[in-house]
Amino acid sequence: MRDRRDTRVICFTNNKGGSGKSTACANLGYELAASGCRVLLMDGDMQLNLTLTYFDEERALEIAQGQHTLYDAVRGRQDLQDYVIATPYEHLDLIPSSVLMSQIEYELFSMTRRELVLRECMQGLRRSGTYDYVLIDAPPTLGAWVVNVLCASDEIIIPVEASPWGLFGLANMFDFLDGLGGKTDAQVLGVLITKVDERKNYYRQTREILAGYEDIHVFETVIHVDSAVEWSQDVSRPVAVYKKSARSAAEFRKLAEEVREHGGR
Ligand SMILES: Nc1ncnc2c1ncn2[C@@H]1O[C@H](COP(=O)(O)OP(=O)(O)OP(=O)(O)O)[C@@H](O)[C@H]1O
Ligand SMILES: [Mg+2]
Repeated sequence: MRDRRDTRVICFTNNKGGSGKSTACANLGYELAASGCRVLLMDGDMQLNLTLTYFDEERALEIAQGQHTLYDAVRGRQDLQDYVIATPYEHLDLIPSSVLMSQIEYELFSMTRRELVLRECMQGLRRSGTYDYVLIDAPPTLGAWVVNVLCASDEIIIPVEASPWGLFGLANMFDFLDGLGGKTDAQVLGVLITKVDERKNYYRQTREILAGYEDIHVFETVIHVDSAVEWSQDVSRPVAVYKKSARSAAEFRKLAEEVREHGGR
């Protein structure tokens, strides 16, 4: 009999650019898959960063110029299962982004039930129980497309950078989530503090401010600034594949444990 799973759909969102969403999504996905979970990554950003973690620039562009992308699936309200491609790693698949992803807001504008298009496209995938985790990388915006991503998700991870402006706008983001009210049941799984630099003092400050949000869980694991992250992205690999001993690789492994424990698997 087929091994059927309850799929946890988790999106990475923060309207603040450069907070570490794509890096966290790509590397958490790799670590969950390496621990034996079946994982599907979805690249929801026109910057193609998630796609570029798993395919070199030439191949990523070729894929993103094709018609087998998240953009095409949503535009045509198609079953996402037909848009899955394999990554080079076991248990880890991807639905790539498109060079046309910037037009998605425009496409959604004329659709009926426009907030729920991605959720509808995901129905077959959820029913199939093929994956333990679907991780969606969202762009740094709060438009109709991100509303779609949130409505399709069960849980939200909010990466914030430990920097003076890292938390700027976070309150707006929480207000935005509250404002979605009945449209989504997605819960904030946690805030992930990223790009922590021991030489600077912002980490403590960031923790203190986040502690003020009583209902919001902050992951124990934090991701430090690590040059291996950028080098790994330069060669289109998850950081643990680029350098197994990298500090950030160990941190993403720990984060995967935290995420798994939270969901009881
Ligand atoms: N732990 C880290 N150490 C060093 N550099 C990092 C780390 N995490 C992310 N970066 C770098 O910071 C930049 C922003 O990271 P990333 O692209 O993951 O953020 P993002 O939130 O997805 O950005 P966007 O909002 O543009 O989608 C990238 O250049 C990435 O290489
Ligand atoms: Mg990104």
